[in-house]
Amino acid sequence: MCTTIDGKILTSRWPKLPNNFNGASLFESTANTFRIPAWLVGTTTMKEFSAPPNTKLPRSPRKISRTDHLAHLPSSNPQSKIRNPQSPKSFSIAVDTKGSLRFTRPDVDGDHTIILTTTSVPDSYLHHLQSAGVSYLLAGRSHVNLPLAMRKLHSSFHIKKLLLEGGGAFNASMLHARLVDEISQIILPIVDAGGPKIPSLFHHLGSTPKKAAAPLHLLSHKSLPHGAQWLRYRVLPT
Ligand SMILES: NC(=O)c1ccc[n+]([C@@H]2O[C@H](COP(=O)([O-])OP(=O)(O)OC[C@H]3O[C@@H](n4cnc5c(N)ncnc54)[C@H](OP(=O)(O)O)[C@@H]3O)[C@@H](O)[C@H]2O)c1
Repeated sequence: MCTTIDGKILTSRWPKLPNNFNGASLFESTANTFRIPAWLVGTTTMKEFSAPPNTKLPRSPRKISRTDHLAHLPSSNPQSKIRNPQSPKSFSIAVDTKGSLRFTRPDVDGDHTIILTTTSVPDSYLHHLQSAGVSYLLAGRSHVNLPLAMRKLHSSFHIKKLLLEGGGAFNASMLHARLVDEISQIILPIVDAGGPKIPSLFHHLGSTPKKAAAPLHLLSHKSLPHGAQWLRYRVLPT
């Protein structure tokens, strides 16, 4: 994640830096060093990589059973231990509790798209995902059960590690669910000063939890060009 010195993450608000330095490009270059071929984001962030959200969907022509759908397999069998040679090797994953995302293709820049959603979304949404060639995993009824969703990503797609890539609200949910083991933060020489409505690196929505803070261990610190700082932390158990 790239942040300002006050921890804010809305890159669209950031001014140009001297020497045409594009701070946001550090997001990709540092993420690539981890060599983890799967990234996971919240609904708002995925809207930037998909079709316009919330458009009205046509009725599904059939009733859709509430089972996981693995788009790349001829018959979707999440229990199958047999690796299909056609199986995708890299993944773009998003949580979408209410079924608001829309897709015109099965991938983001070649990374196969998987949606973590609930059994309460309408048939029209599941039919839309199937038609677009997008996979989905059902984890919960009214909200996405994050530990269950992570277990399903492992059992269905053999995904063991993920790059959690924002935004702040979803990062906070993953942290609260104790599913974040490392943090990689690029601090750019920018201060946002935009107040509490601007999301920060971990930006919990709703009432303030009593116990949310997690202790960290600094793994590394590197100065990058143009005054950017790259900090990596391990999240310690509380
Ligand atoms: N600087 C960076 O490195 C960086 C990286 C990534 C993103 N960003 C920026 O971050 C901004 C978005 O951040 P954000 O915090 O507003 O949104 P976000 O975390 O991407 O998405 C939050 C939304 O996801 C849905 N959601 C579903 N399940 C959730 C769960 N368990 N926990 C939390 N949310 C859940 C909710 O929408 P519903 O209520 O509709 O279900 C919620 O409002 C974008 O502008 C993006 O460009 C910056």
